[in-house]
Amino acid sequence: MIPDNKDRISIPTTFIIFGATGDLVRRKIAISLLRLYCKGFMPEKFQVLAISRRDYSNKQFRDFIFENSLIDSKLEFSKKNIENFLKKIIYIKGYFNEKSTYEKIKNQLHKNTNGLNFCDNKLYYLAVPPKFYIDIFKNLADSGLTLSCDPESGWTRVLVEKPFGRDINTATKLDRLLGKLFMEEQIFRIDHYLAKDTIRNILFFRFSNIIFEPIWNNKYIEKVEIKLLEDLDIGTRGSFYDNIGALRDVGQNHILQMLALITMENPKGQGAEKIREGRVKILKSLVAISKTEDIEKNIIRGQYNGYRDNKDVGSTSKTETYFNIKAYIANKRWKDVPFYLESGKALDSKKTEIMIYFRNAINCLCLQDHKDSEHQNILSIKIFPKEGIFIRFWAKKPGLYSDLEPRDLEFEYRTIENKRTDEYQKVLLDCMRGDQTLFTSTEEVKLAWKYITPILKNWSSTKLHIYKKNSSVPIINRSGGIHE
Ligand code: BG6
Repeated sequence: MIPDNKDRISIPTTFIIFGATGDLVRRKIAISLLRLYCKGFMPEKFQVLAISRRDYSNKQFRDFIFENSLIDSKLEFSKKNIENFLKKIIYIKGYFNEKSTYEKIKNQLHKNTNGLNFCDNKLYYLAVPPKFYIDIFKNLADSGLTLSCDPESGWTRVLVEKPFGRDINTATKLDRLLGKLFMEEQIFRIDHYLAKDTIRNILFFRFSNIIFEPIWNNKYIEKVEIKLLEDLDIGTRGSFYDNIGALRDVGQNHILQMLALITMENPKGQGAEKIREGRVKILKSLVAISKTEDIEKNIIRGQYNGYRDNKDVGSTSKTETYFNIKAYIANKRWKDVPFYLESGKALDSKKTEIMIYFRNAINCLCLQDHKDSEHQNILSIKIFPKEGIFIRFWAKKPGLYSDLEPRDLEFEYRTIENKRTDEYQKVLLDCMRGDQTLFTSTEEVKLAWKYITPILKNWSSTKLHIYKKNSSVPIINRSGGIHE
């Protein structure tokens, strides 16, 4: 039985998903759609048109999705609900560059509304590598699929994944094309990090408590580290990854977005416009790293040993699987505070965390032979595997001592009743509701590329350190040596 959710949207909606047999649909999208359906968030009438090149019938595709994506949800949802959900999926075999694919989509959409007195919502989801974007956008436009059947009722929206483009030029070109087909309010550029609960909490935490904001600046903060570390290597994603590298994969988007949320000014409201504007201002103030000597001084790049053995990776590939950038923000609040932006694959563990190191206490009440610098406060925003906020502070040792010891104040984000929600549910739901707060704007994407592109241009002449698989972090110190 599907609950009657008061937040459910009422207009029938069709999800048209390009890349339906791909990694993203299997890992994230299918299960999130099922969860939204079972929780009653999906419109009463909805359909999923799944587009891919494989030769599948509807039944074969539904079986494929069940086996590869939904099988474990048998514990979460009833067999009946899963079956009913799968029946909503129609498979369309087609190549993204062929007109006939779009004719088939059109026919199916027509079948859905033929003779009925309504115009349905259409959500085009490009769950494909960026190299297919131009073909899909052009064909959508040429076939008239981007036009709404009625300006008063059903909407048409497009969801695109990151990375959006390869650098500032390709992103601008893509944007121009997308801008011709859709208005900004129809475009939803996904950065799933923005939809993570603990990352959404950053602004709430900073601006709903009086005790942190007064010290959230260069007078009290010495440095900040933003880490997105992964134990997995590139696995089956070789051909995608080798073309992209770590900086484009997670640096241009997830890491810069976390940086923006940690450093932006108070948006004074929860509206999408103000929050996006706040993020934009930070991206605009990033100090460019474009000269070769600055790149050498501020950036470390690495590749794990064995990366080139992947069958889809070039044997002389110089693609980075690790980076550490020392970034600065040129505004009054953050002048001279270094931000270390770090990410890597094939490390010893998966960990996402933001660490804020405060300056030393002035006239610390510590033992005379201790230096003030030994007593640093650290605030850590933990995103994975732990979720929560930890504060390292100093307290008198219990008993007959007058010495200090470190203690942690811990806030665990989850409770037993309040389990983790996958980010793609939020992404899909907000797109259906038309709320763009957690999506990146044209301006944000452009500014992020503006910062990253000069670094990428110098990549080939930047030293590439080879590190051991399963290394612990930091793998490489700033003077160039590798930690074993
Ligand atoms: C994706 C990257 O955007 O984010 C992947 O393409 C990366 O390479 C992933 O593994 C990390 O996301 P999460 O949510 O697992 O931390």
